[in-house]
Amino acid sequence: MSGRVLVTGGAGFIGSHISEAYLRGGWDVVALDDLSRGHQRNLPAGARFVQADIRSPEARKLLADGGFDVLNHHAAQIDVRLSVDSPAFDASINLVGFVNLLEGAGEGGVKRVVFASSGGVVYGDPEVIPTPETAPKLPVSPYGVSKLSGEYYLRALAALRGFEGVAMRYANVFGPRQDPKSEAGVVSIFVSRLLADQKLIIFGDGRQTRDYVFVKDVARANVLASTAKIPSGSDLDSPAFNIATSRQRSVLELADTVGQVMGRKTEIEHAAARPGELFRSALDIGKAKAVLGWSPEFPFDDGLRELVTWFEKEAR
Ligand SMILES: NC(=O)c1ccc[n+]([C@@H]2O[C@H](COP(=O)([O-])OP(=O)(O)OC[C@H]3O[C@@H](n4cnc5c(N)ncnc54)[C@H](O)[C@@H]3O)[C@@H](O)[C@H]2O)c1
Repeated sequence: MSGRVLVTGGAGFIGSHISEAYLRGGWDVVALDDLSRGHQRNLPAGARFVQADIRSPEARKLLADGGFDVLNHHAAQIDVRLSVDSPAFDASINLVGFVNLLEGAGEGGVKRVVFASSGGVVYGDPEVIPTPETAPKLPVSPYGVSKLSGEYYLRALAALRGFEGVAMRYANVFGPRQDPKSEAGVVSIFVSRLLADQKLIIFGDGRQTRDYVFVKDVARANVLASTAKIPSGSDLDSPAFNIATSRQRSVLELADTVGQVMGRKTEIEHAAARPGELFRSALDIGKAKAVLGWSPEFPFDDGLRELVTWFEKEAR
């Protein structure tokens, strides 16, 4: 099944892979981005590009008049620390911008909205690992609050305006085109530092764990979530899916694997642990498997090799 989709953040890391996956599935793709972080070179051939801010009347009008079946929303302010310093700025993009798009989606008769939420932040410090969708939500950063609030807005406006809403709660996504300057991209940071013969800096003892999912698996999940039958239910978690691998990997293990795959010796320097950082994190993906028929296909090392190859080409 295919149709016409607007991918916001389409010139960014995850959004560009999603645009590619939709095109492969036969969808008609329009990508919207203000290029504040994304790059036009990331866009796949075949996608039409609109440069606009999601907070603008132009973005809302595009959805109202564009004849889209699906809004796939990935544009965001993604920096947790910036959200701590400037929560109003974070909310202006991640909440007000999103609601502006939802109004346009309602006016334009969009059938489904797929929203990039974050399983890494909405659950706070979870007791159960791998964490299921139904775990208590307790985000600690303004970014986490804006992602969770986005899910609430989506749920309310879906019911009020008559479209379906789906929330994708990602673990740590990695792969080609991830900006090593973004603090979320520890895999990219390690690869780029090793290529530059620099030491890897690990905050704390390095035993903290994360769940790393490859971006092409994430893109495929988005295409499936655009047409799959979504469980009915008025609670927040019914239309939400963890997109992850369920496997925990410590930062020390990550550093080791990156060194092995790149055939380089890793030198590690420890820095002070970051306050508020989660100690363990992995997400339960049983629901995405059962409902979307999705599970991750890329072994971690294969994804890492693709990332390294991309970096080597970029550096030339
Ligand atoms: N990378 C991860 O591990 C991860 C994890 C959980 C959730 N997410 C979510 O996935 C989405 C994509 O993240 P990413 O890692 O690809 O980041 P990214 O920065 O590469 O992509 C975001 C894109 O949004 C664009 N953008 C920002 N503000 C905009 C605005 N006001 N109007 C229009 N475009 C704007 C940027 O230019 C960029 O291209 C975000 O919503 C993020 O919160 C990412």
